[in-house]
Amino acid sequence: MYNEYYGLIRSPFEMTPDPSFLYMGEAHREGLATLVYAVNSGKGFVMLTGEVGTGKTTLLHALLSQLDSSTNSAFIFNPRLDPMGFFRMLFEELGVGPACDSKAEYLLALNQYLIDKLAANERVLLIVDEAQNLSTEMLEEIRLLSNLETPTSKLIQIMLVGQPELQDLIDQPELRQLRQRISLRHHLRPFDEGEVTEYVNERLNKAGYTGRGIFKKKAIRELYYVTEGTPRMINNVCDGALLLGYARQETSLGADAIREVAHDLGFGPKDESEGNGKVGGKGSPSKRRSKRRLFRFRR
Ligand SMILES: Nc1ncnc2c1ncn2[C@@H]1O[C@H](COP(=O)(O)OP(=O)(O)OP(=O)(O)O)[C@@H](O)[C@H]1O
Ligand SMILES: [Mg+2]
Repeated sequence: MYNEYYGLIRSPFEMTPDPSFLYMGEAHREGLATLVYAVNSGKGFVMLTGEVGTGKTTLLHALLSQLDSSTNSAFIFNPRLDPMGFFRMLFEELGVGPACDSKAEYLLALNQYLIDKLAANERVLLIVDEAQNLSTEMLEEIRLLSNLETPTSKLIQIMLVGQPELQDLIDQPELRQLRQRISLRHHLRPFDEGEVTEYVNERLNKAGYTGRGIFKKKAIRELYYVTEGTPRMINNVCDGALLLGYARQETSLGADAIREVAHDLGFGPKDESEGNGKVGGKGSPSKRRSKRRLFRFRR
C-alpha cells in the first residue's frame, strides 16, 4: 500500500519467513553454526530454545537449506499429534511408506530405514518445531527413538526446538532420562540494538529502498526499546509505522511514530506492563507516562 510512496518495489516487513529477507546477525549466525555443528558431528539429541518470535523457525529453514542430499530430514511442526499421528507424519516427511497399522510396525520399519541409511552413509535428522507443546507421552516416544543406535553410532539425530517453556518441560523429574540424553543446548537471543539497526536497514534495502533513511536514529532506539529486539515485533511495528508515515505524508519517521504504533499494538518492555507483556494495561495514562519516564531515566 505504501511501497510506492517510499520508493519500494516490495513490502519490507512481511510476517512470512521469506528466505530472500534472511538477515544473519551475530545471534543467528551463532545459532546456525551451532546447529550445523550439531548435525555434522552427530550430536544425537540437541535442543534450541528462544523467546516467541526471535527467529527459531527461520533459523531451521536456513539450516535445512544448508544441508546436502546425504542428510534426510523430517520437519515436524505440529507437535500436538498423538504417537500414531506423529509416526505417520515422520514417515511422510522421510518419504518412507507405506503407512503402518501399529506403533510396533512403525518402529520396526523405521529401524530398517535407519540401518539402510547408515549403510548408505547418509544421515537422518528429525526436527520437532514448537516442541514446547509436546505432551509428556510424545516426549517419551521421541526419547525412545534416540535409543535406535548401533554400538558405534546414533541412527537418528533429533532436534527439539521451542519457546523457553520447553526448558521447563524437559526439567520435569519424570523426564530426566530425556534430559540426560541432550548433548547440546542453544538459546537464541533477541537482537541487540546494533542488530536491530542492521536488520531494519537490510530489509529496506532488499525491498528496493534507495533513499537517505526512513527511520531516524531515535526511532530505531525506540524500536529496540519497545520490541526488546524481537524480529517478529520489529516487523509489526515497522510495517505500522510506515503506514502511519504514509497516511501523514512523512518520509522520515521519528521515535514518536514508533511509540504510537507500538502502543496501538500493545507492545512494550515486559517490566513496563506489570507483567502482562503489554504497554498500557490497567494503569492510567498519566501513571504510564511517569513509569515510562522512569525507564527512560534508567536507560
Ligand atoms: N534472521 C532473520 N532474518 C530475517 N527475518 C527474520 C529473522 N528472524 C526472524 N525473522 C522474521 O521474524 C518472523 C518470526 O520469526 P520465526 O517465525 O522464525 O520466529 P520463532 O522464534 O520461530 O517464533 P515462535 O516462537 O512463534 O515459533 C519471521 O517470519 C521473519 O519475518
Ligand atoms: Mg517458530
